[in-house]
Amino acid sequence: MSTLQVRVRRGDAFQAYDVPRHESQTVLDVVTHIQRHLDPTLAYRYACRVGMCGSCAMTVNGAPRWTCRTHVDKVARNGRLEIGPLRNLPVIRDLVTDMREFFDKWARAQGRFKGERKRGDDFARVAPESEERRLADAGIECINCGVCYAACDVVARNPDYLGPAALNRAWTLVNDARDAAQTERLRAVAGDAGCQACHTHVSCTERCPKGISPTAGIAGLKRATLGAALRGRL
Ligand code: SF4
Ligand code: SF4
Ligand code: FES
Repeated sequence: MSTLQVRVRRGDAFQAYDVPRHESQTVLDVVTHIQRHLDPTLAYRYACRVGMCGSCAMTVNGAPRWTCRTHVDKVARNGRLEIGPLRNLPVIRDLVTDMREFFDKWARAQGRFKGERKRGDDFARVAPESEERRLADAGIECINCGVCYAACDVVARNPDYLGPAALNRAWTLVNDARDAAQTERLRAVAGDAGCQACHTHVSCTERCPKGISPTAGIAGLKRATLGAALRGRL
């Protein structure tokens, strides 16, 4: 059986492990093998193993990825893998990052739906083929994995920047016809740490495992905040 040479970032140093290769093996399978068979002190995080929960993202051979859906065959170079925690987030231990800052930024970007209809009111009717529905649907499948956030050089330089995931969420809600907090949300994303800080590097869009384009959403927010400012609404 062939083996994979794996280096895992643990604090300031890397630790080396030899892991048996298997068919259809994922990077998460490799980390799990290390923790279960070679070193039970290794800390990492996952939940669903099927690309739903967003908790398994790590840096793999230099790039952020969801590890449960990343096959070793696709990323190993000459039978070698280097695995570390996500960039741009504080590390709790080994491969586990502290996501509080990431979710705090969702809250700062007003990433919560705010409806105004009451229990007895009729349902909102949003035509499936409408432009607003298309735009809202484009970003709704975000699983909060943090891959785009780790890929963003502006976040790396400016820790206050809300980042691609929070801004994608804000853009999704800006296009939600049922939401009643639009002015508040546009104000929240219009500041120096908001959409204007994006340099359109598109690393977020290139890396998003769900095929979402935060870059396009952020461009939409730039237009929407400018339009609102010109109308005196900000
Ligand atoms: S497009 Fe904007 S948010 Fe996305 S990686 Fe580039 S600077 Fe960051
Ligand atoms: S936009 Fe994509 S990469 Fe960013 S958190 Fe959501 S699913 Fe992950
Ligand atoms: S473990 Fe849930 S997305 Fe990977």
